Amino acid sequence: MSAASDLTDIAFQTSISPDGGETYDIGQVLTSCPQTNELLDINYDWDRVPVPASMREFERRWSNRRNPLDFSGVWRFRELLPFAPEDRIVTIGEGQTILQRSDYVARYAGLKPGQLSLQYEGLNPSGSFKDNGMTAAATHAHMVGAKLAACASTGNTSASLAIYAGVSGLFQVVVFVGSGKIAYGKLSQALDYGALTLQILGDFDDALRQVQDVCREAGIYLCNSVNPFRLEGQKTIIYRILEGLNWEVPDWIVVPGGNLGNSSAFGKALLELKQLGLIAEMPRLAVINAAGANTLYELYEQRGLRWNGGRPEQALVDAFYKDMDARNRRANTLASAIEINRPVNLKKCLRALDACRGVVRECTDEEILDAKAMVGAGGFGCEPASAASVAGVRALRREGVIAASDRVVCILTGHQLKDPDATVGYHAEPLDPKLAQRGINRRLYQNAPTVVENDLTAILDAIKRLQKQ
Ligand code: F0G
Repeated sequence: MSAASDLTDIAFQTSISPDGGETYDIGQVLTSCPQTNELLDINYDWDRVPVPASMREFERRWSNRRNPLDFSGVWRFRELLPFAPEDRIVTIGEGQTILQRSDYVARYAGLKPGQLSLQYEGLNPSGSFKDNGMTAAATHAHMVGAKLAACASTGNTSASLAIYAGVSGLFQVVVFVGSGKIAYGKLSQALDYGALTLQILGDFDDALRQVQDVCREAGIYLCNSVNPFRLEGQKTIIYRILEGLNWEVPDWIVVPGGNLGNSSAFGKALLELKQLGLIAEMPRLAVINAAGANTLYELYEQRGLRWNGGRPEQALVDAFYKDMDARNRRANTLASAIEINRPVNLKKCLRALDACRGVVRECTDEEILDAKAMVGAGGFGCEPASAASVAGVRALRREGVIAASDRVVCILTGHQLKDPDATVGYHAEPLDPKLAQRGINRRLYQNAPTVVENDLTAILDAIKRLQKQ
């Protein structure tokens, strides 16, 4: 494979709308199409990209790990996101993540042994999948010479942006988080990595609206997933899943849905691989909302909103949001990472669902926390939002939509230590009042700590008692 270093002229930005013909240079900083106001895609003149004939060729780069671009689990696949000159790429070794078979979780979800794998994105440098996208956004920020970057976040995006700014020293960052909504593991990262941190008196949806206006007004580089370069990086999660399956396509890929950047990136990755002849068939996609933040579920499953060749019925979306505003309905879930009511990538996600015969489900906080406990007991901790994927598989198995013999991949989007309050709150006795307030009243997989006297005999007795249980 030749290096993707002279490729900047073969990448361009276009509106996702079929009615928005213009293309824009990748040197432009845009988060929507100036003509159509729609989201933008990064597209490539594939005829001029030295894409390998088989995905297996990317594996050769494993043996060249001293080159930071080959070490990165994102840039190892650089011919599939060829927008950056190599000397501009900002990488901190992201994407060293694994696809791990879990028979324990398979049993819980109702799948046959060997059929469930967990894509463990918590192993990224900042502890979530966001690093896959942020390396790409930071690279583009470097290409255009940005000195200040910003994002709104439920916590992981801000941690990720902060780490890239901290390590590279190329730009400063300001992060907007909803007040009182962010898990402490994530807030502590933004503070520790030196990000200017604004706690907006509002929720994520408010913070995102504000950061978009602020970036427009002040010419700050925006790193939320409306930034199309971010999604280019997130495509590589799909490549690594396929690599983990020896380049076989699974039956299902299941992902939690918040702002819908990941699901959108997955759809684009798979469509491109199909177009390039690098995969023969498409997997099915399941996007799982928390029931307290279920815009996608409501619109897609209840009201029939579809991609419709790039012209989804906007009136359905407008009516839904109008009703939400009239009732002053706010997103509300313990899975704080996906506590989002106005997903900015809705349309791109509809495209992904269309391409992958997708389904959307919603899971309650109780179902999510039970699934999280099972993921933990199986040895792979994750934060609550990530466990929505496992809770979703279980629900889809019960319905018979997923078969016990289907090969399923769940994305564990964030590390367990991001939100230890949620974990301890679930297991400890008495139940954390914050959980009780949100309707959690049974914990099927509770593993409460036992208080014991500071005394040898008492401790030995307690261990015996606990072992018998
Ligand atoms: N899982 C985790 C752990 C997340 O942090 C997020 C999003 C999602 C799932 C949802 O992914 O937005 O691509 O659908 N977190 C964002 C943040 C919103 O600000 O960190 P999505």
